[in-house]
Amino acid sequence: MGYCIREEVLGLERYVAGKPISEVKRELGLTEVIKLASNENPLGCSPKVKQALKEAIEEACLYPDASNYELKETIAKKLAVKSSQVFCGTGSDLLIRAICSTFISPGDESIMAEVTFSRYDAGTKLMGGKSVFVPMKNHGLDVDKMVDSITAKTKIIWFCNPNNPTGTIFRKEDLERIISRIPENVIFIMDEAYIEYVTDDQYPDSISLLDKYPNLIILRTFSKAYGLASLRCGYGIANEEFTNYLNTVIGPFDVNLFAQKAAVAALKDNEYLQLVYETNRQEKEKLYIEFKRLGLDYIETNANFIMAASKLDDKLVFNELLKRGIIIRPGYLLGMPGWMRITIGTEEQNKALIKALTEILNEQALEVAN
Ligand SMILES: Cc1ncc(COP(=O)(O)O)c(C=O)c1O
Repeated sequence: MGYCIREEVLGLERYVAGKPISEVKRELGLTEVIKLASNENPLGCSPKVKQALKEAIEEACLYPDASNYELKETIAKKLAVKSSQVFCGTGSDLLIRAICSTFISPGDESIMAEVTFSRYDAGTKLMGGKSVFVPMKNHGLDVDKMVDSITAKTKIIWFCNPNNPTGTIFRKEDLERIISRIPENVIFIMDEAYIEYVTDDQYPDSISLLDKYPNLIILRTFSKAYGLASLRCGYGIANEEFTNYLNTVIGPFDVNLFAQKAAVAALKDNEYLQLVYETNRQEKEKLYIEFKRLGLDYIETNANFIMAASKLDDKLVFNELLKRGIIIRPGYLLGMPGWMRITIGTEEQNKALIKALTEILNEQALEVAN
């Protein structure tokens, strides 16, 4: 056809997102659907964010502030870093791509866990780089082996903490053990998309490492605990030189006006964030009890989702839940066939999930008996 699609793009696989509620309603003729598939916040965003969004309507005709001034200042104040160390983008998904565009040249390697957020791999490959996958250890990141895998070709090492999709974390002591073994010319990313949900007090404080390790980049998002997934806003913290280059790669108006205003309001509402954290913590404990009762295997999580497995095929459970109006993420799409990733919902949503799972497991047991 005469087009010159880059070889890297020809080889890319398209990301399969969690099924949207509207699609399931349309396809299955359902009126009530619960989505526990994409780790969104089931409580929604703070009432203060809603107010900020209403007020922002008046400015919809204007381009957003290309420098993200107020947002960067608010993040910097909250984290006690300089605003010149903060960069923002259309979700941390875009920031992953911006990092790959900034640092990866064809032939470079990027190291990641075998089961982790797939966008590190896609971003690496898009730039002609090669992903090096390191097997998991007890479903978590094998950080020692990840560092052992560094070669002269390594440009980036991706640490997802808590890890998506397993929900596991590595602790302070693990980071302290490996950090001095990461060469200065290898960039290490701490993707902390789920940090606000962490319950383990041994979770590492990555911000405190920024001064000592100029090769560290931290990524966070407003899509999860802050409940702003549809507004697409993520941010990163790094040394000023990296931030400068990344801001050149990121488009000037990538974070829209609504996202900027909503994110600022969200950051200022600590009380709401506490409610989100506490609800998730309590519901997680209740789900553990129910999973045990149902004989499901599960991985203890520090995020707002749980990986669980029954003896049944994950595609079958996914489809049966779908028929009952509940969307989860089947493990085969995430590199863990047999498992299912379930976002922790509200008390009501979780009860509906457990009821549906109980029904499915009983039905399947009956079928086997017959
Ligand atoms: C670990 C991790 N990083 C980054 C992202 C991207 O989030 P967003 O682009 O919505 O900020 C996700 C989304 O699921 C994630 O799980």
